[in-house]
Amino acid sequence: MILLLLALVLVLIVFVKFVRADGDFTLLSKGKPKRQDIQDKVFWITGASRGIGEVLATQLAALGAKLIISARTEAELQRVKTQLVGTGKHASDGVKILPLDLASGEDALREAVKAAHSFFPDSGVDYMIHNAAYERPVSHNSLHFTYSSNNIYCVYKL
Ligand SMILES: NC(=O)c1ccc[n+]([C@@H]2O[C@H](COP(=O)([O-])OP(=O)(O)OC[C@H]3O[C@@H](n4cnc5c(N)ncnc54)[C@H](OP(=O)(O)O)[C@@H]3O)[C@@H](O)[C@H]2O)c1
Repeated sequence: MILLLLALVLVLIVFVKFVRADGDFTLLSKGKPKRQDIQDKVFWITGASRGIGEVLATQLAALGAKLIISARTEAELQRVKTQLVGTGKHASDGVKILPLDLASGEDALREAVKAAHSFFPDSGVDYMIHNAAYERPVSHNSLHFTYSSNNIYCVYKL
């Protein structure tokens, strides 16, 4: 009887966690991000000038990551960088701005990949977060653009 009660309480706890969580069971099972997986690693985030990309930059900086932040609007990237100062181990000197238009063609994108690698010569880029989004409203063309442009690094890194 006690075991059944415990099992019920456990199921209830998991259910409440699931309902309140901002993610699915796969994400939940991974727990909170581990600082040792993120600290001192270099993350290149596209679409980091606002929205989800900006939030990611803020959270990764707080966990001690080095960042390369990209988007088209340099002034907004500068704003994000300024906002990060003092928030994490590398947030003052380890945030690099790389303005980038993902629609600017292969040569420009190849140069951007080279530039990204040169910022932290000892480590290059550990993780790339393909987050940039094409303008709304979403159409077939904009989805196609988002998909193909967000594959640049995979292609040019090879
Ligand atoms: N928000 C949601 O509810 C939601 C839901 C599902 C999936 N997503 C996905 O999550 C990602 C981020 O969404 P979000 O809502 O944070 O988007 P957002 O606020 O519209 O931000 C888009 C970012 O992409 C950049 N960007 C747009 N066109 C670009 C280009 N040609 N080259 C380089 N950067 C470009 C923008 O900066 P510039 O304009 O300065 O270039 C901005 O930093 C997107 O891939 C979106 O499809 C979002």
